[in-house]
Amino acid sequence: MPVTIVLGSQWGDEGKGKIVDRLAAKSDYVARYQGGANAGHTIKLPDGKEFVLHLIPSGIFQPEVLCVIGNGVVIDPVALREEIAMLEAAGVTVKNRLFISYNAHLIMPYHKLIDKAMEAKLGKIDSSKAVGTTGRGIGPAYEDKFARKGIRIVDLLDRPSLTEKLRQNITEKNELLSSFYDSKDLCDVEKIVAEYQAFDSEIDPYVTDTALMLNTAIKQGKRILAEGAQAALLDIDFGTYPYVTSSNPTAGGACTGLGIPPTSIDNVIGVVKAYSTRVGNGPFPTELLDETGELLRSVGHEFGATTGRPRRCGWLDAVSVRYTSMLNGINSIALTKLDVLSGMDEIKLCTHYERTTDGKRLEHFTTDLRALANIRPIYESFAGWGKNDFDGITSRQALPETAKKYLLAIEKEIGVSLGIISLGPGRNETLADGL
Ligand code: GDP
Ligand code: IMO
Ligand code: MG
Repeated sequence: MPVTIVLGSQWGDEGKGKIVDRLAAKSDYVARYQGGANAGHTIKLPDGKEFVLHLIPSGIFQPEVLCVIGNGVVIDPVALREEIAMLEAAGVTVKNRLFISYNAHLIMPYHKLIDKAMEAKLGKIDSSKAVGTTGRGIGPAYEDKFARKGIRIVDLLDRPSLTEKLRQNITEKNELLSSFYDSKDLCDVEKIVAEYQAFDSEIDPYVTDTALMLNTAIKQGKRILAEGAQAALLDIDFGTYPYVTSSNPTAGGACTGLGIPPTSIDNVIGVVKAYSTRVGNGPFPTELLDETGELLRSVGHEFGATTGRPRRCGWLDAVSVRYTSMLNGINSIALTKLDVLSGMDEIKLCTHYERTTDGKRLEHFTTDLRALANIRPIYESFAGWGKNDFDGITSRQALPETAKKYLLAIEKEIGVSLGIISLGPGRNETLADGL
């Protein structure tokens, strides 16, 4: 069966872009199934050029691959237009290679305004109350989708009905912005109609019935990579709610976000960083607020690819990855950024938690925030390896013994084997036996 899902197994930024770009070499399609321009997927090409993609699937740099933005994605016209222009300027062909679902919902200017106003208001009450969103309008756009008020790409075709829907939405949103959020930034119906219809004619060549397209490809035995954005611990249902994103990065999201059946999926690859990071607020059991955390951030360049915010850093948490493995049926792990740990004397892996109130050993992750506030991570400690010990390494077998011990412990604790080990941001800095 032809579909492989590639998803983030922690709190995002695991290196999904790098892994998808690499795997796309052996795929016919790469299809994004959820999220929007909150994502920042970095790809470093063999010539050293680096690109950050927000909406366009990470297969775009493999010339034979067709890229799909599924119905589950929320599309910001401004971001999409910029991204297409950026790729074309770099000599990457996008026409006839990018296909966008006619059912995908659009991010409207008022979604971004509300996202920012909502965060500002929450932050004013108490800085820990704000989610720390990317401000890209993601939550408010999905809110409208589920409240059946959303504007989809297909809706741009009918000007009178678009104007009517927008008028209703904008009346409500302006009221919310001015009365509840005390905002001076309001939206104008005619301006938005004109802007979005101009966008419609630009993207018209890309828009199609992508569910039909993908299901036809599945019947023909084509190989499809379903690319997740964000990650399982940011999932609206299974993440650390309310400190989550507003979609389902978990495996089920690939079916609903692309219109492909569960029976077409035969592989789920979980991308796991060799340590942990998180951007924005919310629980993070293995966070390091000391110089080791600082070191991970500086060596790993842990700054958001979308917002530039410093990422919170800590040791790898096997408890939370066991949980996301279970939820998603992950049958292979792509471990990234192992090289970032090179040169450290000691490396730690969180194997379980201990309840602070009574010392009870906890093996299972929970998204009950009150319970998470009362645990402490228990670590197994590993000896490190030298700063340059990965130079010239082309197989897992050739890695230093201490690194191999750490990898075996990760496999044992998570219960899933490592199919890919990434030792650098470049496409070819990858150990992938059998690929
Ligand atoms: P994504 O959102 O999951 O695609 O990840 P991001 O692109 O936001 O962040 C991952 C960062 O790590 C990017 O800067 C990548 O270029 C980089 N990266 C990916 N894999 C590796 C790796 O194995 N080693 C190192 N040093 N950097 C990596
Ligand atoms: P990629 O695909 C890391 C986080 C935000 C915030 C929460 C909600 O690059 O891994 P949102 O704007 O989605 O409403 O914000 O989710 N977040 C991410 N963190 N990587 C991402 O994407 C993220 N997309 C959203 O920081 O905590
Ligand atoms: Mg990212």
